[in-house]
Amino acid sequence: MVDVAPTAPVPLKTKAPPMVSVVVPTRNESDNVGPLVERLRTALGEMPGEIVFVDDSDDDTPEVIASLADDDIRLVHRTAGHRDGGLGGAVAAGFAAAQAPWVVVMDGDLQHPPETVPDLLTAGRNETAQAVVASRYLDRGRVDGLGGLFRRFASRATGLAAKVLFPRRLRTVTDPMSGFFAIRRDAIRPEELRPDGYKILLEVLVRNRVERIAEVPYTFQPRTAGDSKASLREGLRYGRHLAGLRVATLRHPRSATGRMLGFALAGAAGTAVNSAALWALGEVAGLPYLVAAFLAVQVAIIWNFVVVDNLVMPPGERTRGHRFGRFLLLNNTLTPVHLGLLFALVQLGGLHYLGANVLAIVVVFLLRYVVTTSWVYGT
Ligand code: GDD
Ligand code: MN
Repeated sequence: MVDVAPTAPVPLKTKAPPMVSVVVPTRNESDNVGPLVERLRTALGEMPGEIVFVDDSDDDTPEVIASLADDDIRLVHRTAGHRDGGLGGAVAAGFAAAQAPWVVVMDGDLQHPPETVPDLLTAGRNETAQAVVASRYLDRGRVDGLGGLFRRFASRATGLAAKVLFPRRLRTVTDPMSGFFAIRRDAIRPEELRPDGYKILLEVLVRNRVERIAEVPYTFQPRTAGDSKASLREGLRYGRHLAGLRVATLRHPRSATGRMLGFALAGAAGTAVNSAALWALGEVAGLPYLVAAFLAVQVAIIWNFVVVDNLVMPPGERTRGHRFGRFLLLNNTLTPVHLGLLFALVQLGGLHYLGANVLAIVVVFLLRYVVTTSWVYGT
């Protein structure tokens, strides 16, 4: 057995360069790895491949894997203290070690039938997909081995939660919770991954923005040896993973619509910030309303900058200080108009300055829109 750092597997020479790297995460699966290797070798037949075990065991699984070792088997043993990200972290370490153009991820407990692996690869080639998911919920797919009613319900509910939160990315995926899938190695950008527990497929599809996803049905088999490591703790971890993933991918949207929405939401909240600041400065601090309004505009601009800079726009080349300076300056060009309008509405229109201020914000916003679309873009 060889203990090595997670990202440095033992390199073994393979005769032909592998077409497929099968990444198998294992934790205490000593009775399963032997039959798994045998069935995988048969299933792959002539196709050159490698099996990369990423093992986090405390039992003798690594010794059993080492005893099977041939040119086609590699082992990354993560010792205690190096098991970041649990199952997902292990798969990510497998991605880093994989050498073939296609990577298949499957469990080491035979619940994922090795005989389905060639189907995944065929579908990937025929449908020019970047990833192929083995699905328990696609026409002929089944969940036989999933166990009790609660586990079945949990599987459906967590899958649905993922589809609700990532509707576009998971549109064609019936089983986003699957731990059995094939993916082109060049579709994986390991540096973007933040694996956290079981749902590594979701992590890859969402964070690496995988575009073309195919599916193949399979039947989830009952476990015949060893125990499942799924637990309530893993369930809670899933909630945390999902929330983190959603927040992280909401930031810095790439589409024009996403950015526009970000601007609009920041601006809408900015109106509330502006009004609150104006109220505090005018009513509580007792400043003259035009002075208070000028300061409230500055507060709102700072608010908008913090939101837009952190959540909406990617930072670009300029330093944060430089970006802030430009933001403040450009946003202040319309401040005289804002204050003039406010003055007119209060003095001539007889409005209360707090209400007049909201009106001024809206008009200035429209003005900004008209000015940029007609003067800058000539439409
Ligand atoms: N390296 C490593 N580290 N492997 C782990 C760890 C870990 O912390 N936890 C579990 N594993 C390994 C197990 O040894 C097994 O090979 C595989 O990951 C799946 O673990 P199970 O505990 O058997 O999970 P399950 O059967 O309840 O759920 C599996 O199947 C579902 C349906 O496809 C998982 O793959 C789920 O993600 C999947 O939704
Ligand atoms: Mn299992």
